Amino acid sequence: MTETAIERGGATRDGAAAAEPLLPELRAVWWEAGVRARAEAGVLAVFAELPRLVAEAVRVSWRADRLRTSIVALTTVGSGVMAGGGLLATQRVLVELFAAGPTPDKVVAALPALAVLATVTALRGGLGIVTGYAQNGLAPRVRQEVERGLFEVTTAVRLDAFDADAFADDMERASRGTESTVSLVQAVTNLLAGLAGLLAVAVAVVLIHPLLLPALLVATLPRAWASLRAGHLTYQTWAAGSVRRRRRGLLHGLMAERVSAPELRSYGLRRFLLDQYDRVMGVETGIQLALARRVTTMTSLGAVVGGIATGAVYVLLGLLLVDGRIPLAAAATCVIAVQAAQRSLAVATYQVDQVYSEGQHFGDYAGFMNRAADYLPAAGSGAAPPPLRELSVREVTLSYPDRKEAAVDDVTLTVRAGETVAFVGENGSGKSTLAAVIATLRMPSAGVVEWNGRPYAEWDADRLRDRIAVVTQEYHKWPFTAATNIAIGDVEAEARQDRIEAAAARAAAHDTIVELPYGYETLLDRTFAKGQDLSGGQWQRITAARGFLRDAELLIMDEPSSALDPRAEDALFQSIRDRQGRLTTILITHRLANVRHADRIFVLDRGALVESGSHDELMAAGGRYAELFTLQAAGYDVAPPRVPPPRGTVG
Ligand SMILES: Nc1ncnc2c1ncn2[C@@H]1O[C@H](COP(=O)(O)OP(=O)(O)OP(=O)(O)O)[C@@H](O)[C@H]1O
Ligand SMILES: [Mg+2]
Repeated sequence: MTETAIERGGATRDGAAAAEPLLPELRAVWWEAGVRARAEAGVLAVFAELPRLVAEAVRVSWRADRLRTSIVALTTVGSGVMAGGGLLATQRVLVELFAAGPTPDKVVAALPALAVLATVTALRGGLGIVTGYAQNGLAPRVRQEVERGLFEVTTAVRLDAFDADAFADDMERASRGTESTVSLVQAVTNLLAGLAGLLAVAVAVVLIHPLLLPALLVATLPRAWASLRAGHLTYQTWAAGSVRRRRRGLLHGLMAERVSAPELRSYGLRRFLLDQYDRVMGVETGIQLALARRVTTMTSLGAVVGGIATGAVYVLLGLLLVDGRIPLAAAATCVIAVQAAQRSLAVATYQVDQVYSEGQHFGDYAGFMNRAADYLPAAGSGAAPPPLRELSVREVTLSYPDRKEAAVDDVTLTVRAGETVAFVGENGSGKSTLAAVIATLRMPSAGVVEWNGRPYAEWDADRLRDRIAVVTQEYHKWPFTAATNIAIGDVEAEARQDRIEAAAARAAAHDTIVELPYGYETLLDRTFAKGQDLSGGQWQRITAARGFLRDAELLIMDEPSSALDPRAEDALFQSIRDRQGRLTTILITHRLANVRHADRIFVLDRGALVESGSHDELMAAGGRYAELFTLQAAGYDVAPPRVPPPRGTVG
């Protein structure tokens, strides 16, 4: 039974599977077939992968802190050797004590071994302290190194990675994997140390009788195998539980966070969400119980078979004694040595388990980093783009995964420097998607966008992006101060207050901000001390200011005024008109009165470009644009109110 079988078993037993579809489902297609293959791999297949993973974890640890990595490795192995030495010394002491002869002589004979034992024990204690100290310093450094690596990738991957199947699940497991790097390094060094101890007792046991060692190893196998299988099953169950864990996190957010709190109350969602939580947890509990049952069965079986095998070892020992192959005088030493060997083997088994399970988690991290690399944009090798003369979209098509129709369908258009153009069309007609392609945020499935006649790919991507400012339709409310919320429109430049205020003024945001309790320094996140929140329209003004900050050569504004009051909207469009003839602007809006001044209007329908021209041309053509415009204008087309004539003019 694989982990998915456990999932299914757990889910059906609780009868919760049928109720699941209300929440996001586990996607049938994994991000990469490789992930599933790994999750379903057998114990041996995972072992085969371990050396590579260990090498990688050691490399990361080494990069993070060479000194501490070396110290941890050396002292751990050192203390393992000491432990082995201690065992041999104990053995020696016992041999001397059990030898024939008067007791004082035996004690004297045992003294050198006792001295070695004391020294070795003291050294081991000292090394333990050093290991602990170095380890405490190493762990946060490695953690930072690994986590930073993860963030470097998640902030660099192309947007389509986030649309890829199970990317979020993969990332969830990778985050857990970041914690396993140090544990893996530590587990490997512990294992090496354990092996040193094991070698020592092996020597002791072989000295008694060569047959005892293989017998002991065989007796350890059932338990070792059972606990490895149990660890494997636990990991597989965990790996398959990404969606469930994310779902729990989602419910946590929905029930405990500020953003969803008003709707939760207005729609009375409390019981509904608690019910969802119970369902998710019901499934989870079922899966955990099923796992616990299997793990217990497996380890019990291992323990029983292992116990019988251990009994057999003692029978063998007895036979060897009876047979006179081991002198009776050494019997006690012999039993102690066998017990020590068993303990060492148990410890080594545990350490193999640790390496194994931490290795699996680290493998998630390493695997994610590899898979994510496919989504990294090509390195910008191109030249710095010169000032914009002409932007051409040539036969651009973009299809989102799993969507039958293309979001942008074979669009060709040209925008000349200094023009203000508008993209117009109904909801879902592809305006934002086309804007994202022009803004270099998305790669077209076919076709190219050219900057001065050369495809984007031939220019340096970062510098190209520097020349384009984008105000996206679904803007993010950054949990920073008002000033920073605007300044992030140009993070590379110094956040000069006069520039920020000028940008704010252009977006009609200045007066709003000045009235806040701490003015520009007001933190715009209510969940922190002294934080404030803004109205929807006020937020939108700040976002528009962000777009104006840079006075970018190409400014793309996607629905910048959907929440603005008429006065703010007028001010915003005045600022956009100020750019006309000087800088290039692409404007997307449903308020068609605002696009009348645009040099050209491109009308999209179901992804295709269906009309283009100036307002007057399009109105005269009487096509889609004229239809939309007339429809909207009709809403304002009320009979003019009878305005009383101004006083004093009645003549
Ligand atoms: N990430 C995505 N994955 C899948 N489909 C998407 C994604 N984003 C948008 N779409 C789909 O692509 C099509 C075009 O969307 P787009 O956002 O470009 O429309 P729009 O013209 O900007 O609409 P609106 O006026 O509502 O802003 C729509 O059918 C939409 O459902
Ligand atoms: Mg849109």
